[in-house]
Amino acid sequence: MTVMKIAMGSDHGGIHLKNHLKDYLEGKGYEVLDKGTYTEESCDYPDYAAKVGHAVAGGEAELGILVCGTGLGISIAANKIKGVRAAVCGDVYSAKMSREHNNANILALGERVTGVGLAEMIVDAWLAAEFAGGRHARRVDKIMALEAE
Ligand code: RB5
Repeated sequence: MTVMKIAMGSDHGGIHLKNHLKDYLEGKGYEVLDKGTYTEESCDYPDYAAKVGHAVAGGEAELGILVCGTGLGISIAANKIKGVRAAVCGDVYSAKMSREHNNANILALGERVTGVGLAEMIVDAWLAAEFAGGRHARRVDKIMALEAE
């Protein structure tokens, strides 16, 4: 297996799932860059979206995983960073498609929405999937062109 570097981050609402998935992925041989948060103290999810978003967009990590209470706020914030395509996924099919069709480079999860077992399956499917290219590349290129407007 090629060891991949994954940047991870969460706010206080996602810290337990983030920490669980960090251990889960390290156990599988992935290198995880944990960008915080590191305590349960209340904090602001855009700060961690920015840390992980910049790590992925800047090439420090190949992919990123973000967790907040719902996955919504942290993905909305991450998608403001040029080069980021963050997808909130609560099911395995969407996770697979977000890589194959949308070339998502950040997976967002909601700790208050998705149980640990399903989250592991979502992460596994997301990491195993590959961008399909072809007609999907044209569409992703159009998404990226919107960023340049
Ligand atoms: C924090 O209470 C919560 O708003 C946050 O984790 C997230 O769900 C926002 O989208």
